[in-house]
Amino acid sequence: MILCRTAAQLEAALTRQPEERTLVPTMGGLHAGHLSLIECARQCSGIVLATVFVNRHQFDDPEDFANYPREEEEDFERLRQAGVDLTYAPDEQEVWGGEPPRLEAFEIPGMTDVLEGQYRPGHLRAVAAVVSRLFDQTAPTAAVFGEKDYQQLVLVRRLAVECRPPIRIIAAPVVREPDGLAMSSRNRRLDPQSREQAAGLHRTLEAAAESIKDGLDVEQAQRQAFETLVELGFEPDYVEVREADSLCQPAPTDRDLVILAAARLSGVRLLDVVRFGLILS
Ligand code: PAF
Repeated sequence: MILCRTAAQLEAALTRQPEERTLVPTMGGLHAGHLSLIECARQCSGIVLATVFVNRHQFDDPEDFANYPREEEEDFERLRQAGVDLTYAPDEQEVWGGEPPRLEAFEIPGMTDVLEGQYRPGHLRAVAAVVSRLFDQTAPTAAVFGEKDYQQLVLVRRLAVECRPPIRIIAAPVVREPDGLAMSSRNRRLDPQSREQAAGLHRTLEAAAESIKDGLDVEQAQRQAFETLVELGFEPDYVEVREADSLCQPAPTDRDLVILAAARLSGVRLLDVVRFGLILS
């Protein structure tokens, strides 16, 4: 595996590689969820390029940024074993060139200011800023993003169509622990009791999706799911049903839906999503 630390090294290395390349952007702290993204990328033609960069601007809590797992050497080994051809692991200077990103330029009303954007102001703009910089620097033909961060995926699709040439975005399904908990770097911060309770998030969303499929009104299903989470010991920020492609409020004719939730458990903020279809009647 080739390891590049600077944009200049990356540019030089890429001139010797095939033009088709699939990007897997990460912030490190790699777990089985990330490895599944790499597996998706390996199905594409050309090389697999991973990035490891912890973007401080997308953390709204400085403590969260400080606590984010940094284990570069282990991560490089995991990437190498997973079959990554080239890893770009730059520092802040290489990514931003000494200037903080102009986050205002990445505001998309109705996208960066709703759901996660409402509870973590600035987070999605900073994600858009870093992804767009990494797209510029790595010039991929395709990129893989996990469905777990569903709003990020929808946002990135928007950025990707504006790239010249457009970048194909591949959505990788959520990878779950045996009890249903979505894999996340944050899970390791759950104490044993919270870890057991945490699976309740996915169960609750699954149950809500099933009840909507059975005809329950969307608003009522959202409300019930929110209340169930509170009873299970979560502090939910939101439980929302949205149209799956646009993340708009669902219209009665929409058939492809997602139910998204963010909830804290013993101070650890967990995200989950369940995608489901309604049969036309
Ligand atoms: O999903 C992530 O790990 C990050 O948001 C990403 C896409 C690497 C941008 O920093």
